[in-house]
Amino acid sequence: MAEQNSIHGLWRSRWLFILAASGSAVGLGNIWKFPYITGENGGGAFVLMYLVCIALIGVPVMLAEIMLGRLGRQSPINTMRAIAKDQGASALWSGIGWMGALAGFLILSFYSVIAGWALAYIFRMAGGVFDGITAQGASDVFSGLVGNPETLLAWHSIFMVLTIAVVARGVNQGLEKAIKVLMPMLFVLLMIMLGYAFTSDGFSQGLSFLFSFDFSKLTSESLVIAMGHSFFTLSLGLGAIMAYGAYMPHTVSIGKTVVIVAALDTFVALVAGMAIFPIVFANGLEPSSGPGLLFQTLPLAFSQMPAGDFFGTLFFILVAFAAWSSSISLAEPIVAWAVESIGVSRTNAATWVGVAAWLLGLGTIFSFNIWSDVTLFDKTIFDTLDFLTTNILLPLGGLFIAIFVGWIMRKKDVAKEVKMTNPMLYKVWFVILKFIAPLGVLAVLINGLL
Ligand code: PHE
Repeated sequence: MAEQNSIHGLWRSRWLFILAASGSAVGLGNIWKFPYITGENGGGAFVLMYLVCIALIGVPVMLAEIMLGRLGRQSPINTMRAIAKDQGASALWSGIGWMGALAGFLILSFYSVIAGWALAYIFRMAGGVFDGITAQGASDVFSGLVGNPETLLAWHSIFMVLTIAVVARGVNQGLEKAIKVLMPMLFVLLMIMLGYAFTSDGFSQGLSFLFSFDFSKLTSESLVIAMGHSFFTLSLGLGAIMAYGAYMPHTVSIGKTVVIVAALDTFVALVAGMAIFPIVFANGLEPSSGPGLLFQTLPLAFSQMPAGDFFGTLFFILVAFAAWSSSISLAEPIVAWAVESIGVSRTNAATWVGVAAWLLGLGTIFSFNIWSDVTLFDKTIFDTLDFLTTNILLPLGGLFIAIFVGWIMRKKDVAKEVKMTNPMLYKVWFVILKFIAPLGVLAVLINGLL
């Protein structure tokens, strides 16, 4: 394919791409979701399956996604269409882009609501709500927040506006500067939390919950969730990373970048787990308490440590930023497509996507209060959106990407764009992508859903 340049701009350096991709990857998935689904799915064995999925499916698919993005240099929808055409394949392959854009939009709708919780907690921490609080008290604060639709709506609206403001300006304008400072700060703060957890009575119990593998607790549904989460946490299967790859300069090695991003992402999730579970056990809480886990445990820890209000406030600010740098990448594929193909301005495209996702977000807000008993197969609207996107659409997206790159594209074009210097590693990647990743996804989905 002839060398292209992106109309949306390029990242100015390799490090900025790594920061942006890890900004997309590291988010609520690591700090909020990973701990709570680990708690719900019995701990160690689930964690192990998640790690296996990251290594065997996530990393190879991420490489493929970035490669496709950089080759096509457009929104995922148009990138897939252009590459399919160039490779003599059916235009239907642009369906990967469409399905991804839809998934990104659906995820954005609930992601913004949960990020709103983090915003709300900034002010609760700063206001000293948690001073000297008990476990029961912390859980009451959380129930009080999610039980109140007006409050959730206000924070959801604020977060959506923040997201749209960045996407409207273009993801590689301005955002770069913020990520550069905030990502390292988040690491430092997580390490402080880990240090605190280390001194708590529950530390060894927390660690053994996370890392002792009891396979009897692993159901076929847990396996689907572990695999789905490996896509969610790495921002894969919906074109977010493909869209970012489209802005990646040609001088950058995709392979190294992918390994760094995946390692950072996994590290953050594991540290979050190691900080949260000791607090769970030291306070006699339930690991399986669900989406409120982060919000019911960490405030307890902050209330007990010196300068806890300060660290707690800072922590939730950083969580909100981590969510922000992820949410923009959820909107990017569909917004970039609208700019290219409908010819609207970025500001208009971002606004319309934001308004629609905001509206749909009401379904998630009400799932925690007035509509909490509106369920389908025992799942609330939020649970349904989450399950459908994370556990079905993202793995399917990954499956099709693996098949497209492994089976449909001309091998020499793939090799030329990936430019891996080590031929052995390249072979390993290609074989995994061609056989192991698609079979793995299929096996887990078929086993878990049928
Ligand atoms: N990876 C992000 C997180 O862990 C969520 C996300 C998923 C972002 C898919 C973009 C695409 O929070």
